[in-house]
Amino acid sequence: MVDTPGETVPQLDLYTIGDGALDRSRIDHVDAVLRPATMALLDRVGVGSAISCADVGCGPGGVTFELARRVGPGGRVVGLDIDDRRLDEARREASALRLHNVEFRLADVRTLAGSDEEFDLVYSRFLIDHFAHPGEVVNSMCRMLKPGGALVMECTDYTGWYCYPRLAAFDRAVELVSLERQRTGGYPDIGVRLPVLFVEAGIVEVSQHIFQYMEFAGAFKPWIISVFPRERVEWIAALGIADEAEVESVLVEVAKHVENPRTSMGTPRFVQCWGTKPDLPDRIAHNLGALLDPAD
Ligand SMILES: C[S@@+](CC[C@H](N)C(=O)[O-])C[C@H]1O[C@@H](n2cnc3c(N)ncnc32)[C@H](O)[C@@H]1O
Repeated sequence: MVDTPGETVPQLDLYTIGDGALDRSRIDHVDAVLRPATMALLDRVGVGSAISCADVGCGPGGVTFELARRVGPGGRVVGLDIDDRRLDEARREASALRLHNVEFRLADVRTLAGSDEEFDLVYSRFLIDHFAHPGEVVNSMCRMLKPGGALVMECTDYTGWYCYPRLAAFDRAVELVSLERQRTGGYPDIGVRLPVLFVEAGIVEVSQHIFQYMEFAGAFKPWIISVFPRERVEWIAALGIADEAEVESVLVEVAKHVENPRTSMGTPRFVQCWGTKPDLPDRIAHNLGALLDPAD
């Protein structure tokens, strides 16, 4: 259904579409509903007190603040984002929450410099799916880590949506949003690729956890509809993937399916992935092993 993004695809920034207000309310909604899963991930990884953390592509800072609470006054957290508006909102919120161990920096993760080996933990959620060269972004985050530090990421896998009973309009909606992600230079299935990207970046002890919400009724059931704000419908038409009338009629069909109490629908699969940047002796042993056994 979805091919690998080509090198010729322009790198477009979805966050510049519209005035950003809708995008912000969507970020807040997603943050609220996924909070328990993110909290469980941070529990599993173990965010110690007094450590230094980065939240890359932090947005308005939902997870950045949680990291700041966990590391306590002896630790520090830096939220990095390419969008100044988000950072201003996050700075205001940090001050309202009286969190003094958090700082926000304007940065593009693709060209990040000056943060080498600065952090004990680098976290990122819903960022890596937007890049044509996600391996370079993972490498960049890896460079930010001190040896022995933890890399922690969460992202979606759009090959993992499902709907019961099957509905052609639902499959088409998934295809449209996947094609849009792909044509704008990203990977709709990035979630399942994360462990390999981690290993290729030299991360060891890589683990993953996959989860998904399905419902007969409730907030998760119409998730597929919520990924089609007005801006995205116009954007899909502008990219020549489908005209607006087709997208609207697909969404009407899906909405009828949502209202049917005998159907179940939900979110795409979410993938959480984490691992450790090896200490220098481990890295030397790993590189030596690769030299002695080229198949490694
Ligand atoms: C979908 S939002 C996720 C926000 C937050 N991580 C969360 O889960 O609530 C993606 C964020 O990544 C930021 N972003 C996009 N491209 C970026 C880049 N090249 N470097 C840094 N941040 C970027 C956007 O501005 C946006 O705030």
